[in-house]
Amino acid sequence: MSDKATLEINGEKYEFPLVKGTENETAINLKSLRAVTGGVITLDPGYKNTGSCESAITFLDGEKGVLRYRGYPIEELAEKANFLEVSYLVIFGELPTKKELIKFEKTIKSYTMLNEEMKDILDGFPKNAHPMGILSSLTGALTAFNPKSVDINNEEDVYQAICKTMAKIPTIAAWAHSKNLGKPMNYPHDDFDFIENILQMMFTNRNERYTTNKVVAEALDNLLILHVDHEQNCSTSTVRIVGSSHAGLFASISAGVSALWGPLHGGANQAVIEMLEEIIADGGDVEKFINKAKDKNDPFRLMGFGHRVYKNFDPRALIIKKSADAVLKELDVNEPTLKVAKHLEEVALNDPYFVDRKLFPNVDFYSGIIYRALGIPVEMFTVMFAIGRLPGWIAQWREMRLRKEPIGRPRQLYIGETKRAFKTFEKR
Ligand code: SDX
Repeated sequence: MSDKATLEINGEKYEFPLVKGTENETAINLKSLRAVTGGVITLDPGYKNTGSCESAITFLDGEKGVLRYRGYPIEELAEKANFLEVSYLVIFGELPTKKELIKFEKTIKSYTMLNEEMKDILDGFPKNAHPMGILSSLTGALTAFNPKSVDINNEEDVYQAICKTMAKIPTIAAWAHSKNLGKPMNYPHDDFDFIENILQMMFTNRNERYTTNKVVAEALDNLLILHVDHEQNCSTSTVRIVGSSHAGLFASISAGVSALWGPLHGGANQAVIEMLEEIIADGGDVEKFINKAKDKNDPFRLMGFGHRVYKNFDPRALIIKKSADAVLKELDVNEPTLKVAKHLEEVALNDPYFVDRKLFPNVDFYSGIIYRALGIPVEMFTVMFAIGRLPGWIAQWREMRLRKEPIGRPRQLYIGETKRAFKTFEKR
């Protein structure tokens, strides 16, 4: 295969180097395109064919349903590692030694408390404020209490900032949950590990000592691992482009939280449960909703179905679907939405509309069913996604800054009015 791509424009030929990734993906390096062609640019809404960067963090093959973090298959990591171990791997590039993991967990624990004044900000929100809005706002507010920006060239400075971010976001998340319930905030407690601390801050009632349900903790740990990173998805690209202006880590993560909130992205896990409940409330006629999803005149989409990259099963959905049965059985939870979800999947995967468009269940289709079985309310599903994705956002932000990537600033094709003279009122 040649190592060059040739583009012909108005009879002129231009050559551009082909670059290959370690998994034999090929990209055309178009860095000089505009300069050599006198201003020609590419146009690719949604960046469906455009690579924004070179990255060594996550590899996924949408056709084969492959997902690996730093070369390790997601299936192995979900089975053999815990969330903090996988977070360390994704951020720093290697699985931690026992010593490194103990130091990582200890340093994170040292930062889990929030400044008491953060409560004043929280008090300013109405009780029914969506937790994702609170999470994005308070994550941005962390900058006010940690004004010193990260010196990207100082490894220890970056390490401490990473541990601080990993530590404080779950506390903000748990406080957002307590705010929604009108309950007093629980504080992080060093007796609990990372996952148990999230659960105890969310579920401890004032007059009791929280006891961890190991099944719940293990299921949550597993779910968060499956959300850790996913190459250049919408929210990660947001974190990278905000960070490319050298905005701080908290500000970049706050922007990523907002991007994740959208129902086409991380907000889909909440939308899936709401859709399944709507189907049940409507009498359980799955075919009716499949037809609505296929009807171009109906804005309804099958939430939790389809994916920009996976044109085969989302490997994460497969793992979550398997554990859904086990978790619900172990917790002795009867979740009618699981039965409807399986029926919906079966009907959709036998329908040419979905098969022709390669629309399969994605990570959000089954995750909400497990979150709810763990006692997590629907409004907090996307917050849990954000906690899971946090290490990936941090890893991608760190990689972008260490590689000294340029500020992100896409071009456009102008299709507006050409030059025209100002009109006085009489002429308008
Ligand atoms: C996540 O990017 C990531 O990696 C994201 C994520 C991650 O880990 O970060 O994996 C997490 O965001 C998963 C996706 C969660 N979102 C949903 O479940 C929302 C429902 N899904 C769709 O909105 C849609 O599938 C997207 C947004 C996920 C993908 O949209 P694309 O790639 O822009 O595809 P498209 O909208 O161009 O759809 C192609 C065709 C269209 O039909 P035609 O115009 O060809 O006739 O498929 C149809 C679409 O109408 N289609 C759907 C559909 N998804 C796509 N039709 C009905 N129901 C759907 N869910």
